[in-house]
Amino acid sequence: MKKTISVSLMLASSILLSSHVSAAEAPKPGAQMPVEMQQMVKTYSPELRQKVMALSPELKGTIQKLHAGHTRRAKETNLRQIMHEILSEYQSIASALATDNAEQAAEAARRLANHRIPKGGLLAYFPLDKVNTNDLSVLPTMNDIVEGSALKLADAADKGDLPMAATYMSEIMTGCVACHQKFRGVPGVSANLMTPTSK
Ligand code: HEC
Repeated sequence: MKKTISVSLMLASSILLSSHVSAAEAPKPGAQMPVEMQQMVKTYSPELRQKVMALSPELKGTIQKLHAGHTRRAKETNLRQIMHEILSEYQSIASALATDNAEQAAEAARRLANHRIPKGGLLAYFPLDKVNTNDLSVLPTMNDIVEGSALKLADAADKGDLPMAATYMSEIMTGCVACHQKFRGVPGVSANLMTPTSK
């Protein structure tokens, strides 16, 4: 009996030891998640946490990069409020272009591209059934269309080429619309209307 215990102890410690060694060589699955994302995930409900943990490592890296590409973090602001900020910037660009104000256009476009990241990050506000590798894989494309075009608009404005800058307005809006069709659902629906919604 004594022997069995000591043998199994030896076995256990060697397993522990070897797993320790291999852990040093290759990080555990949870550790592949970037630190900022790990912090965010801690604040998620169990349902959302499970969905985020199940995303492919590549997509987790991509989402982390998207977050890291934005230097401004909101403390309490939610995604809907940030979206209204983004809309304000878009309107500011339109106003600037209409009034031949290249500097205002460039600055507002760069603020739009570097919008604040809402409390908890983007995923916290997406419908749960859209938090999967397949649906979220379009995020970098949406980002390129909206923020890439905004940065191109800013560059054109810097060069004083407002006609060129103006062409990017529709590209940006195409990205807003595409993302909304996929991830926004139907905003402002009343729970107290008896007629079903048309969508
Ligand atoms: C990455 C996807 C994505 C992109 C790109 C995006 N939005 Fe949104 N937007 C959302 C989601 C999701 C919501 C719903 C947020 C909520 O209600 O919590 C939303 C909500 C909004 C709202 C709040 C009111 C409403 O209708 O729900 C406004 C305003 C808005 N977006 C404007 C814009 C504008 C302008 C752009 C482009 C410059 C844009 N969005 C680009 C995902 C996106």
